[in-house]
Amino acid sequence: MTSVAVIGASGYIGSELLRLLVNHPEIDEITPVSRSLAGKKVSSHLTHLRGFLDAEFQDMDLGNLDADFLYVAAPPGEWIRFIPSVLERGIKVVSMGGKFRIKNPEIDSKIYPGFDNRELLEKAVYGLPELYRREIKKAGFVANPGCYTTSVILAMAPLSRYKESLDLEKIVVSSVSGSSGAGAKPSRFLHHPEMSSNLRPYRVLEHRHTPEMEHILSREFNSDLSISFTPSIGNHSRGILSYINLFSSHEIDLGELFIDFYGEEFFVRILSSAEENVPNLKDVVNTNFCDIGTNFRRERGRILLLSATDNLIKGGSGTAVQNMNLMLGLDEGLGLRQIAVSP
Ligand SMILES: NC(=O)c1ccc[n+]([C@@H]2O[C@H](COP(=O)([O-])OP(=O)(O)OC[C@H]3O[C@@H](n4cnc5c(N)ncnc54)[C@H](OP(=O)(O)O)[C@@H]3O)[C@@H](O)[C@H]2O)c1
Repeated sequence: MTSVAVIGASGYIGSELLRLLVNHPEIDEITPVSRSLAGKKVSSHLTHLRGFLDAEFQDMDLGNLDADFLYVAAPPGEWIRFIPSVLERGIKVVSMGGKFRIKNPEIDSKIYPGFDNRELLEKAVYGLPELYRREIKKAGFVANPGCYTTSVILAMAPLSRYKESLDLEKIVVSSVSGSSGAGAKPSRFLHHPEMSSNLRPYRVLEHRHTPEMEHILSREFNSDLSISFTPSIGNHSRGILSYINLFSSHEIDLGELFIDFYGEEFFVRILSSAEENVPNLKDVVNTNFCDIGTNFRRERGRILLLSATDNLIKGGSGTAVQNMNLMLGLDEGLGLRQIAVSP
């Protein structure tokens, strides 16, 4: 059995990790860490966990951490200085933030300034199991992917087989995310009167996930590519729907390609026949699935892909549990096979 600590347990990703871990059959001890709520009962703040996790939040004390596994669900901070010694003690780590996802020190440092550590950056394995399972199994330190990037990379990766047909300088992506994507800290534009009945584009063409998408997909395509990405926040709590437009000089049988590429992958579902419904949030929210739709009529070489995920689960905590399972040699889907509610 395994003990796990979660830094940032008071936040949205941290509390989703707690929710998944309390029902994970191989986890017998959870240490929830929160600097602001240390000493308070978890269930007094995260009331939905009442009866499942009666522990108290602990202050951050990484020098004395006693656990087999550590999740860091917090922005870059002083915790980074402790990670090398945590790894030396044999504790495996998944970091949920953007730092260490892009294996280029200049880009990493420019997008996530401060707390640079080249050795850690070199060690970090990009934690998207469907693409990098082999590397994740051997890793001590995993950088979990971003939420938008997960939905876009999973949808685009199969097209690397047809890269010669595609215009890699003309990729246009729009995504709509639930407001939980911005974290638990209140802000003016996320205040209910501002968000209710609203759809709000933000960081248009300069979101931090764009370089991450370009970096990972350039690796997959073995070629530079450029993405024009516009995110928006919608009037819903969780779930991302991405619309991905590409242009091809040749006809590609997308259904066949995607089904062949993802084969037996449990958490990626391909909707390739016209009878199936389009990817939508209701089918994926509260689950670890990414639903990808390829079944749209294409004209003049235009390819449209739709991709739906839950930003807090497949876009965050669920993939992180998949990674933990792989890193500990467990069944990859343990604790993650829940189905969405309907209606
Ligand atoms: N929200 C999403 O959809 C999503 C998806 C994928 C990845 N992520 C990434 O996951 C991480 C957490 O996101 P979130 O949305 O859960 O944010 P959040 O709701 O704001 O929670 C972050 C938590 O981290 C703790 N924290 C803040 N600064 C810290 C520091 N310097 N050292 C240690 N703990 C610190 C805070 O708790 P205390 O002050 O109580 O310690 C806070 O509750 C971020 O890196 C984010 O980019 C988020």
